[in-house]
Amino acid sequence: MIRRDFLARTLSVAVASLFTRNVFAQHSMHGTHDMSGMSDMEDMPGMSSMHAADSKHAAQAAPKLAPETAIPAGAPLAALRKLPNESKEPGVFRATLVAQPVRRQLMSGHSTALWLYGDAAQGPIVGPLIDVREGDTVEIRFVNHLPQPSTIHWHGLPVPPDQDGNPMNPVAPGATQVYRFTLPPGSAGTYWYHPHPHMMSAEQVFRGLAGPIVVRAADDPIAAFPERHLFFSDLKLASDASIAPNDMMDWMNGREGQFVLVNGARRPRIEVAQDERWRLWNGCNARYLRLSLGGNRIFTQVGTDGGLLDKPRDGLTELLLAPGERAEIIVRAGEQATTAILTAAAYDRRKMTMTEGKSLPADPSKALADVHFAPASPSASRAVPPALRPIAPLLSSTDNAADKAPRKSVVFSEAMDMTAMHRPGATMSLPAGMQFMINGASFDPARIALTSRRGEVEVWSIENRTDMDHPFHLHGTQFQVIGRERGGVAAPERYLAWRDTVNVQPGETVRIATVQRDAGERMFHCHILEHEDLGMMATLKVV
Ligand code: C2O
Ligand code: CU
Ligand code: CU
Repeated sequence: MIRRDFLARTLSVAVASLFTRNVFAQHSMHGTHDMSGMSDMEDMPGMSSMHAADSKHAAQAAPKLAPETAIPAGAPLAALRKLPNESKEPGVFRATLVAQPVRRQLMSGHSTALWLYGDAAQGPIVGPLIDVREGDTVEIRFVNHLPQPSTIHWHGLPVPPDQDGNPMNPVAPGATQVYRFTLPPGSAGTYWYHPHPHMMSAEQVFRGLAGPIVVRAADDPIAAFPERHLFFSDLKLASDASIAPNDMMDWMNGREGQFVLVNGARRPRIEVAQDERWRLWNGCNARYLRLSLGGNRIFTQVGTDGGLLDKPRDGLTELLLAPGERAEIIVRAGEQATTAILTAAAYDRRKMTMTEGKSLPADPSKALADVHFAPASPSASRAVPPALRPIAPLLSSTDNAADKAPRKSVVFSEAMDMTAMHRPGATMSLPAGMQFMINGASFDPARIALTSRRGEVEVWSIENRTDMDHPFHLHGTQFQVIGRERGGVAAPERYLAWRDTVNVQPGETVRIATVQRDAGERMFHCHILEHEDLGMMATLKVV
């Protein structure tokens, strides 16, 4: 592909020259080393000297990473911490979230400096679960005890734009902000919250700031199923247990650590003794989770980001959750005692390398949890109703509504600017020269990219003109995917669902129907947080 080729070539030239000047020279490694033979950056020592141009980091070598077994595995899956409601008034959920540095021992003999919501002296290193109901008024006092500005964004929830933690509304270190919103009828679903400050979202999330939200409906048709929560997050630790900084590959492809945690723990053990409803969150910066319970073990999907499907999807053996996505599934206990490994199966999201014309191989599969199934007593087996809740299509297919609706186009692209990469003083805290763009431009907080009218249903086409997957996310609403087109083959979406995040493959165009209800500014962006920070984000103004 031409674009990939161009990109790989410019990048590998830039890297080779930085690398030669700053690493080979300084560490006087074998001068005969053939740069064109580099298979990928991860093979190379001293790669964080992509900080190269930043003199104070120039001599730093990439930290050695802890082995994948450095965090103990096998403990029973911990229940999430729950954010206590400080309010006695019915219909009001009032609480405080303090973002702060916290030391926790994850690897034996070492402590890790994390950033967490709450002091989390014990319990999972995941933000506490906000468990609320449709109709509730939610009032969260956010206290920022971080050394940098932050915000809290309520990913997926229909909150007023000025309460949504946009990058344009930072909360300074030491400052407090009260976020207030009311959860409308129909908003029951599985959401999450995380920081959204300008150019610092990736770091704040990979240091530990992210947490789950469940909004419940009074008439939930599957409320009888016992519920289990699996919040997936990603962690990259150096061998001294410190959180490793992003290197060039992390910025380019999105950061993936050596650890995938479930409720803050590595490879926990889950005992399933009756049919259960699982809520799943992909809270990783960049990791795609193609979830499977192995081989032929089937499960039923009952929900997406924005709550229940209209009807269950039976017989699934895998489910892809892109970064930011959530799902609800029903897992059956079965008739006999068995074990399974909950796995993120191999998935090729076409990660780039620094070598011309090459992609990294597919992400290998990774065990996430060991699941022990006990035979369910017949009384513990529950039926999933064939109809979960009505979902009305935003655009009816009968009256050509899709042809008449206003259209918007979103195009993902990427480019490398060699001049910027070589500019003296360029730093790796946000690497110059890598551009991830929407509609030809990197994010500018002062610019409105698109304007919509509130209440008006629109059709957006999201086109990925890069060579890697990018998950598209739109704030403030849930949308419906209408169809997808790739390589000249168009297909309607197979099922109706409410989503706020959808993966777009290279060369693919995804069409969605969407409507905004409040006037104000909304963000839309790639949910690989490094790409978001590097500018693959834009502002929608709703009038
Ligand atoms: Cu989960 Cu704009 O983000
Ligand atoms: Cu969001
Ligand atoms: Cu992206």
